[in-house]
Amino acid sequence: MDDLIKKAASDLAQATMVSALTGAGASIESKIPAFRGKGGLWEKMDPMEVAHIDAFMQDPAKVWKLLIRDMKEVIDQAQPNDCHKGLAQLEALGKLQTVITQNIDGLHQMAGNTDVIEFHGTFAWQRCMDCDTHVETRRVDVSEIPPRCHCGGILRPNAVFFGELIPQEALWRSRQVATDCDIMLVIGTSAMVQPAAMMPVVAKETGATVIEINPESTPLTGEISDYIIKGTAGDTMNRIIADLDALL
Ligand code: OAD
Repeated sequence: MDDLIKKAASDLAQATMVSALTGAGASIESKIPAFRGKGGLWEKMDPMEVAHIDAFMQDPAKVWKLLIRDMKEVIDQAQPNDCHKGLAQLEALGKLQTVITQNIDGLHQMAGNTDVIEFHGTFAWQRCMDCDTHVETRRVDVSEIPPRCHCGGILRPNAVFFGELIPQEALWRSRQVATDCDIMLVIGTSAMVQPAAMMPVVAKETGATVIEINPESTPLTGEISDYIIKGTAGDTMNRIIADLDALL
């Protein structure tokens, strides 16, 4: 692993355009549970029952009670961890331009990254299903479920449910970023959900080096990624940045 950390630092030192694709594993150390694998959310509940747009439309109160209310509690409290801070440091060093994230927790922006594509939307805002008014999630009163807008309409996260389209601008820009980068860091994603999982494929096909940081292999490992650093996101970022600092 030490050799791969050194290799990543050296690859980054030589690169001009760097992007990162992050998933739930990047926020685990901020105490936000992942979706898949041991302790993941989908071990406890069926995503088709709580995270599909049809389930929400059928019974918004149920989805608020089973998923969104708890998510609000966790995300309201969450703070950036060493992975988020490390990616912000990479940007400050001129070694990262854009973060494409599948996460909806806003922690990359909180850590200081300035160009973050929120591929699955954001949980920072709820929007009214009737009048489209946006309300900051931390200001939403959850004593009434489902919470409502002043117009009486039901509030929903400004994020993507299963069965919904990816925000088109996010999809378009992500493809562009993947095409243009020399390196794509793929951090803490199982690469099981499309079209996000296609971005490293686009990067690879257009000549980038794809570096995974994940304690577990993914469908990209050995197929698309050039190498995988099998470590946790925060610790690995700290070590890469320490080595990179010595090279710059
Ligand atoms: P997953 O929960 O599918 O995958 C999390 C990944 O993080 C796994 O590959 C783990 O091995 C890895 N991991 C665990 N601990 C880690 C650590 N400390 N450091 C680094 N990696 C770690 O999460 P995503 O790939 O983000 O979509 O899931 C993709 C999408 O599926 C989500 O955006 C969400 C979900 O359903 C929607 O809600 C639309």
